[in-house]
Amino acid sequence: MLELVNVTKTFNISGNKEDERTALDNVTLQIEPGEFVTIIGGNGSGKSTTLNIVAGSLTPDSGKVLLNGRDVTKIPEYKRAAYFGRVFQDPMKGTAGDMSVLENLEVAYLRGWTHSAIRWGFKEKDKKIFIEELKRFGLGLEDRLNQKVGVMSGGQRQALTLLMATIRNRPTFKMMKRDYVLFSGLDENVARKEFEDEYNLRKGEYDKKVSDIKNDSSLSKIDKKEKINVAYQEFDSAIRNKFDLTKQILLLDEHTAALDPKTAKKVLELTDKIVHENQMTTLMVTHNMKDALTYGNRLIMFHLGHIILDVKGEEKKKLTVDDLLKMFEEADKKAEN
Ligand SMILES: Nc1ncnc2c1ncn2[C@@H]1O[C@H](COP(=O)(O)OP(=O)(O)O)[C@@H](O)[C@H]1O
Ligand SMILES: [Mg+2]
Repeated sequence: MLELVNVTKTFNISGNKEDERTALDNVTLQIEPGEFVTIIGGNGSGKSTTLNIVAGSLTPDSGKVLLNGRDVTKIPEYKRAAYFGRVFQDPMKGTAGDMSVLENLEVAYLRGWTHSAIRWGFKEKDKKIFIEELKRFGLGLEDRLNQKVGVMSGGQRQALTLLMATIRNRPTFKMMKRDYVLFSGLDENVARKEFEDEYNLRKGEYDKKVSDIKNDSSLSKIDKKEKINVAYQEFDSAIRNKFDLTKQILLLDEHTAALDPKTAKKVLELTDKIVHENQMTTLMVTHNMKDALTYGNRLIMFHLGHIILDVKGEEKKKLTVDDLLKMFEEADKKAEN
């Protein structure tokens, strides 16, 4: 579960009191695992600030951010990054233009991967995964694996960024352990011990298999290598399936706003598909009220740093764009008085 508790954030660019802007005013919010929350609100109402505080790009002046009950407010952005996938409005921001589609995906997927001995075997397998994923986009990206991302359209780049933000990359065991200790919600020592016990058990099994394979004189050198690879992959997935907390939460900040309507729709549909298939907890900021109503199972409206609407399920389904517009107007009127 992701929680903001009494979060306040004020900006003051000039140092003069009259320039002070309260971006978030004592905001409390609880998001259950698997919820797909759409977030709307006028310009400057605090939407991006909320996402930045969740991801750790900004520190609140007061209040807390909790992940699975653990206070992560002081954990820096780069350490929290593993837990989040992010897509911003600017298509240039999420991908490296001078690298190919495949290279961009490899970077996202293999970050931290060190087992160089089997790296090549994985690469071919990864490529197949990427092609399958890209095919589902319906943007023809699977035929352009070696094309530099810089020459592609904004829509194609955003689709690629979305895949990079959601495809589960491969942290090293060390990174996985660090993240598990930080974010599992368990007491640190309990989490560390749980990881180490499981790791040692599986590593013991793997080492035994390797020694048996090596001692088996009926096997050729190539067969041995192949069998050791399989044993390693079993060991690797056993640990990953249990402890990898990578990319649990997806943060989207107007990620289709810079795209033409047709491409925006495609990227949104893709988003919906990816979110559901991976059951990702998702916060999607959009300025499009219709999209906010169509997608997700919960809708939150911000106004001047406050949450003025928070609806779920059936209640959300009943809402119309007119309802939302009326609420905006009423909130504006109230603020003027
Ligand atoms: N880095 C910043 N420096 C100064 N003011 C900021 C900064 N980020 C946001 N703000 C101010 O905080 C308020 C909320 O901004 P933001 O969360 O970006 O709004 P939204 O995403 O809803 O449009 C605005 O008044 C904005 O000007
Ligand atoms: Mg914003």
